[in-house]
Amino acid sequence: MLQGKTIVLGVCGGIAAYKAAALCSKLAQAGADVRVIMTASATKFVAPLTFQTLSRHDVITDTFDEKDASVVSHIDLADRADLVVVAPATANMLAKMAHGIADDMLSTTLLATLAPVLVAPAMNVHMIDHPAVKENMAKLEERGVRFIEPGFGQLACGYVGKGRLAEPDELFAAIAAALREAEQPKPLAGKRVLVTAGGTVERIDPVRYMTNDSSGKMGIAVAEAARDAGAQVTLVYGKLAVPLPSGVDAVRAESALDMLDAVMARLPETDIVIKAAAVADYRAETIAPQKIKKNAETMTLQLVKNPDILQTVGERKGNRFIVGFAAETEQLEQHALDKLRRKHCDLIVANDVSQEGAGFRGDTNIVSVYDEAGLVEAMPLLGKKEAARRLVALIAPRAAERRA
Ligand code: PMT
Repeated sequence: MLQGKTIVLGVCGGIAAYKAAALCSKLAQAGADVRVIMTASATKFVAPLTFQTLSRHDVITDTFDEKDASVVSHIDLADRADLVVVAPATANMLAKMAHGIADDMLSTTLLATLAPVLVAPAMNVHMIDHPAVKENMAKLEERGVRFIEPGFGQLACGYVGKGRLAEPDELFAAIAAALREAEQPKPLAGKRVLVTAGGTVERIDPVRYMTNDSSGKMGIAVAEAARDAGAQVTLVYGKLAVPLPSGVDAVRAESALDMLDAVMARLPETDIVIKAAAVADYRAETIAPQKIKKNAETMTLQLVKNPDILQTVGERKGNRFIVGFAAETEQLEQHALDKLRRKHCDLIVANDVSQEGAGFRGDTNIVSVYDEAGLVEAMPLLGKKEAARRLVALIAPRAAERRA
């Protein structure tokens, strides 16, 4: 697995740097081309010569110490890497990675690489539990950085708790697994996927509107999962409570009519449509050009039905694979299957939004996926990201079959 693979090993300044030397040795013995970058602090714990001897390559500690004039070394290493591993990763390096700071060779290479990044933190128990560190790790995880959890035990600082760098064998196994995963064919490679997310906004006057509780979390998780599965993703989004994901083509659509236009304009170049957005079923018949004055004791707002975007797509689906969502509060299966048939979906993802932990706003969901024949998978309470990954795993083989 490791034979001929280029692994950039970033070593930061912590006592656990000595374990990185054992890791470097194991990787080199397994046939990997290990290129070590040390931070200035790391060199206080272990001499660069140790890594140089184990890896049989120069160890880079200074961004400007260009040893080969034919390349720019941080870009060269960033491009050549099959995997970048940071072990041990200090709180300082995590902060730099999370905020895009590039003030040394390691942080600069990390910013330049497109290779998968595996990070093994090691620090004092209070540091790893600090909200700033947790926030940085969560941010990095969002961006696809993988972590190797630190272990529990006696720490060099005298504390007993979480914070020890994982053992070299464990690091080695995680590296081999990450390389194996990177080599797997991406199940949605070559597919163009259109995802809708968030709630539509239906204006009443210049300062008032009708909307719903959708945060966009579910739809964005689906867009990210499709992107990670190799698809070219277009995200048509309404009102969101979370930031837009990277690596997708994002298109803003305020109202249901805007969303219909945005979706239909992109339908010809789309293979898979996944409609997680909560679209308003009705809109105000007229939008007042000026702020409506509160003169009368009561007020009647005349609503008209919005077009059903999913149904419109379903009626023109051709060879496309269509996935709808169904937000229900009762008779989940019956209503979901009715929507699947009426809107010509291939799959429908039903969530009972009255259940604790399911539906709008939160980070979790409980979904059941149906096709024409009935239940395909009933997922337990899961993070929306995991539910989205599982959903994409259900979609990919079915959509591939459809094209064939
Ligand atoms: O965004 P979050 O806070 O993470 O919440 C997630 C969610 C609850 C919004 C999501 O899981 C979900 O259920 N989305 C669909 C919500 C919805 O509008 O359900 P519905 O049962 O009313 O509509 C069924 C399907 O038709 C949906 O795919 C919807 O996008 C689509 N639809 C509905 C009305 C309409 N006019 N046009 C449509 O395309």
